[in-house]
Amino acid sequence: MHSTSSLSPGTTIAIVGAGRLGGVLAPALRAVGFVVLGPLRRDDRVPDADVALLCVPDAAIPAVAFAVRPHVQLVGHVSGATPLTDVDFSIHPLQTFTGRETPEVFRGIGAAVDGRTPEALSVAEKLATALGAHPFRVDDGHRAEYHAAASFASNFVLTVLDAAERLAAPAGVQRAHLAPLVRQTVENWTASGAAAALTGPIVRGDDETVARQRAASAAFADLFDALAAATRDIAHPGTSSEERRA
Ligand SMILES: NC(=O)c1ccc[n+]([C@@H]2O[C@H](COP(=O)([O-])OP(=O)(O)OC[C@H]3O[C@@H](n4cnc5c(N)ncnc54)[C@H](OP(=O)(O)O)[C@@H]3O)[C@@H](O)[C@H]2O)c1
Repeated sequence: MHSTSSLSPGTTIAIVGAGRLGGVLAPALRAVGFVVLGPLRRDDRVPDADVALLCVPDAAIPAVAFAVRPHVQLVGHVSGATPLTDVDFSIHPLQTFTGRETPEVFRGIGAAVDGRTPEALSVAEKLATALGAHPFRVDDGHRAEYHAAASFASNFVLTVLDAAERLAAPAGVQRAHLAPLVRQTVENWTASGAAAALTGPIVRGDDETVARQRAASAAFADLFDALAAATRDIAHPGTSSEERRA
């Protein structure tokens, strides 16, 4: 076995879990020169390796970490939400993976890393850098809010976009028509943040228009109300709903 502190192209890495991320991460690490074993499926024998990287559901991490520990020097996971309790390091690529991506998907993205020791942290950082990602440290005390942020930025965006697609469908407006609006909005937010990017009836104060939208969105009433309230907070920070009505 190699010394993992000098993580090098000859280092052997066992990828455990052949799902959405494991199936993309294994060829990506292979492409940058590591000796990759796997991705290993549930019933595969665990081979000896320098590092095991667990790409399994969060709830499976304790048992899988225990099972691989005798076979490797360092155990890591790729979970954004799970603390380091059962592993030596973590590397969470801040991207969404469906399993169809190519190794280039890691280039230029961020990756949250942490380690129980300086050596383990260094391994996580080197793995991220080798993939072309930019590592940043998120410790266990900040994991929950970090991972919630990732869900807002990806999962909940899809929830909102799905509502938009359904509301637009009766008018004959398709996803492809909405997509440029979504892309430009994300570009504007990327450049200057939500407050500066915000347009539309709420920030203009066109309350009758908002009321008409609300009536038309009956199938999504709870979502509309929650989003409208949060949008008013961005448009008019520091003012209560009573003050805004006055
Ligand atoms: N997908 C993403 O966008 C993304 C992004 C960043 C980080 N992650 C992290 O990646 C990890 C995996 O997520 P995922 O989206 O790839 O999940 P996934 O598609 O559900 O894949 C999980 C894989 O783990 C396998 N597995 C479960 N228990 C196992 C065991 N005991 N031994 C070996 N394999 C086992 C599952 O096999 P079975 O099908 O047989 O159950 C499945 O192939 C999670 O920690 C997640 O937070 C995912």
